[in-house]
Amino acid sequence: MATTVPPRFPWTQRLTAGWESDGVCSLRALRRWKRYLSATPDDAETIVSHSLRLPVMPALSGSPESPGKKLLEGDDTPEEVVVAYHERTKHHYHRYAASLGQMDWATQPDPFRRYEGAQLIRFPLSDTRRTLPYWKIYVPGSVAPMPLSIDSLSIFFRYALSLTAWKRFQGTTWSLRANPSSGNLHPTEGYAVLPALDGVHDRPASYHYAPKEHGLERRADLDLTVWSALMAAFPKSSFLVGLSSIPWREAWKYGERAFRYCQHDVGHAVATMRISAAALGWRLFLFSGPSDAGMTKLLGLDRDADYGHAEREHPDLIALVTPAGPDGPHGVSRGLPEETLRQAEAGPWYGKANALSPAHGVDWPVIEEVVRATCRQSKTPTSEDFSRFASEEELFGAPVRSGSLSAEKVILGRRSAVSMDGTTSISAEAFFRMLARLVPTSDRRSMPWDAIPWKPRIHLGLFVHRVRGLPPGLYALARDPDKVETLRAVLRGDFLWQRPPTCPSGLHLYLLKEGDCHALAASVSCGQDIAGDGAFSLGMIADYMDSLITYGAAFYRNLFWEAGMVGQVLYLEAEEAGIRSTGIGCYFDDPVHEVFGIVSRDWQSFYHFTVGGPVEDVRLTTLPAYGPERGNLPDPTVPR
Ligand SMILES: Cc1cc2nc3c(=O)[nH]c(=O)nc-3n(C[C@H](O)[C@H](O)[C@H](O)COP(=O)(O)O)c2cc1C
Repeated sequence: MATTVPPRFPWTQRLTAGWESDGVCSLRALRRWKRYLSATPDDAETIVSHSLRLPVMPALSGSPESPGKKLLEGDDTPEEVVVAYHERTKHHYHRYAASLGQMDWATQPDPFRRYEGAQLIRFPLSDTRRTLPYWKIYVPGSVAPMPLSIDSLSIFFRYALSLTAWKRFQGTTWSLRANPSSGNLHPTEGYAVLPALDGVHDRPASYHYAPKEHGLERRADLDLTVWSALMAAFPKSSFLVGLSSIPWREAWKYGERAFRYCQHDVGHAVATMRISAAALGWRLFLFSGPSDAGMTKLLGLDRDADYGHAEREHPDLIALVTPAGPDGPHGVSRGLPEETLRQAEAGPWYGKANALSPAHGVDWPVIEEVVRATCRQSKTPTSEDFSRFASEEELFGAPVRSGSLSAEKVILGRRSAVSMDGTTSISAEAFFRMLARLVPTSDRRSMPWDAIPWKPRIHLGLFVHRVRGLPPGLYALARDPDKVETLRAVLRGDFLWQRPPTCPSGLHLYLLKEGDCHALAASVSCGQDIAGDGAFSLGMIADYMDSLITYGAAFYRNLFWEAGMVGQVLYLEAEEAGIRSTGIGCYFDDPVHEVFGIVSRDWQSFYHFTVGGPVEDVRLTTLPAYGPERGNLPDPTVPR
């Protein structure tokens, strides 16, 4: 393997040399993984797994012999538990993070949670064909706010969390959604807390979103005084959305690393919800203040009687969706009254959660530990100063005011590339535009970054393969202008730090080192060719330790959310540019750090991504997502 490393990156030879000296085991595991990915068409189960991006880590993964071992013994701080979890769940060339090492199909979790006995309000599907141009969703004030109704709510959930297609191969069928998910396992559940609304319910209530039915399950009625107290600070027609995670869905396949993937998926879903709101002329703001305990009460997640033996959900976040104009409502900074959140407990509540797996082969207690360590206490809402960030003009040169696709086509047509063609290139202008979309502006209006109150903690280490007008090589993008010098000090000392001459002035993009980095990008992404065969790929480098110190252990989750949001914007930008992208959760953590010269644990790679020309898998049949679109076809069955 060492011969595949380009000579212009001499320090990387240590990485592949490490493979060999670290033992045959790692190479054997990597080869097995690659064989799995290039399975032949007549092996139906393997093809389906591949299409679902379901390859498990090869046997010999991690240390499943010690899944019950605690992260730390003794009286440790939540931050120490987080750091121990992060270290323990790194993939190394010689050892993957602990997982089962095989697919236990008998316990495959149901991707759809339902609350049996709760009333299901199906959304109408007729009016989603909107012609709104994609570029407009990024221009504040350009989409007139739609009134809140069952129809606009239908569009909101359709663009945010709904099914977008069913795929079929040899009698096996599975669904895809607007929000992507690691391994297509979908640990994220969506909730809404709504006022009385025609066609939905005659009083305020709390709902669970059912994606397969595209409807809301009414979980609880809310006392009018509770609703009024919750929403007193916000404009009329505002409502709340919530997200929770079921770690078992990811852990079933990915073992101990699954908590990371759950959080990535939450980040993707925050972005899909924000983007969906933008398509309706609405805004969305994440509350940074409410405690997990308060959210749990509002969403009913601690109701033992409703869950029985069903897998539990842990709360992730609550956000405000509001038709308020571009200046936004002022009450968001005050947050949600904690005491009122807890009053939602009174109900009445409806429905019993379904069990997702008949049994759990192996449980992964370290996930419970990190869930506990990152549990959020109620805190003062975050408020930060963005005044030193660039304006839209400085970021984009000429702001984008045209484009080729409608918002709906981009949002519902989004797909992960299964493989990349290794030939498609993009222009430097398209590359700069995609990167500029990832950076907040000084006026705090750039979408989706206006949804989160903290300054960027995720920066990019890029592997540029085929961008016309730019030399291939390693690049860095600082998403916060104040972090350029810090990054310079953190990354390898002999990097060039040259601004590409045509790069817009507000985009802090730097060439670090010229050279062919195809093989390097693929090798650090668990040997996945998609990372080397795209136009570019990247590692998302988090300002990790300082974030934990500044905001506390719970912010570990926010780092993945921010990374997921970056990924979601790239997914959509790639669609608009006529190419595709794919999230990459499988990468070798420390080898990535070594590529960029990161020697301390203060900065860590949190997610990878690749963007390029896709190769379609023509063996798969695509079916429409829902009944009326599907004509008379019956509902596809969910594979178990
Ligand atoms: C957090 C995350 C990690 C992912 N990691 C990988 C990966 O390592 N390799 C891969 O081929 N696809 C990866 N994917 C892509 C998913 O497999 C894909 O989103 C899923 O199969 C659903 O397909 P869709 O994106 O077309 O809806 C990842 C996606 C997410 C959201």
